[in-house]
Amino acid sequence: MINLLINVDHVGTLRNARQETFPDPVHAAALCEQAGADGIVFHLREDRRHITERDVHLFAETVQGKLDFELSTDPDVVDICCDVGPDLATLVPERREEVTTEGGLDVEANRDRLDTVIPRLYDAGVEQVSLFVDPVPEQIHAAAATGANTIELHTGDYANATTEAECHREAERLADGAEAAHSAGLRVHAGHGLDYNNFALFRNTVPHVAEVSIGFAVMARAILSGLDTAVRDMAGVVKH
Ligand code: PXP
Repeated sequence: MINLLINVDHVGTLRNARQETFPDPVHAAALCEQAGADGIVFHLREDRRHITERDVHLFAETVQGKLDFELSTDPDVVDICCDVGPDLATLVPERREEVTTEGGLDVEANRDRLDTVIPRLYDAGVEQVSLFVDPVPEQIHAAAATGANTIELHTGDYANATTEAECHREAERLADGAEAAHSAGLRVHAGHGLDYNNFALFRNTVPHVAEVSIGFAVMARAILSGLDTAVRDMAGVVKH
């Protein structure tokens, strides 16, 4: 059964847009878990555009299931991650001007930083360290060589595919990536742009996926249907 982790960043985006104290991502995280999520994901960005340090500390205290801390290799954020000790730390590329994470890590280009950060995370007690990578064999092999025990396959190109042929082609690329990761002894996660409609082909094509991280589709539905319904619907799709 695939684990469903819900990303609550967008609740923080809405709160911060009005410089308000609500809606509270911490409250949202509790509701997500109550509705069947196996855990919660957040990305503490260097610019703190959605999740804040206050949120991070409260997630660490209140989340009952798995906690996935997404982060760049920025030393201040790495310090915070080591301090709170999530179950899973997912290293992602981060550019200030991007609207959302735009692609996987270039593992080789970041190897020096990763070689510093990954052992620090393990030393702090983080059991799973994941690298967010595109489904490209070189990136997957490079990820395995860093000592990370997990990868999150970037599903953005699959989600953005517009024709049926393109969807199938991208799903096959993800399947090959998952196979390569599994053979290299890595645990396989996936995320970015997965939604209520594109999940079925993904699930039926891509093997070895232990966990998915889904945010935008769920929060978009939550605005119209309520968070409880949106999470339950997604859990129904993922755990079908
Ligand atoms: N995984 C990673 C590494 C991400 O950066 C994001 C986006 O914050 C997601 C998963 C979730 O993507 P989405 O919000 O499109 O479901």
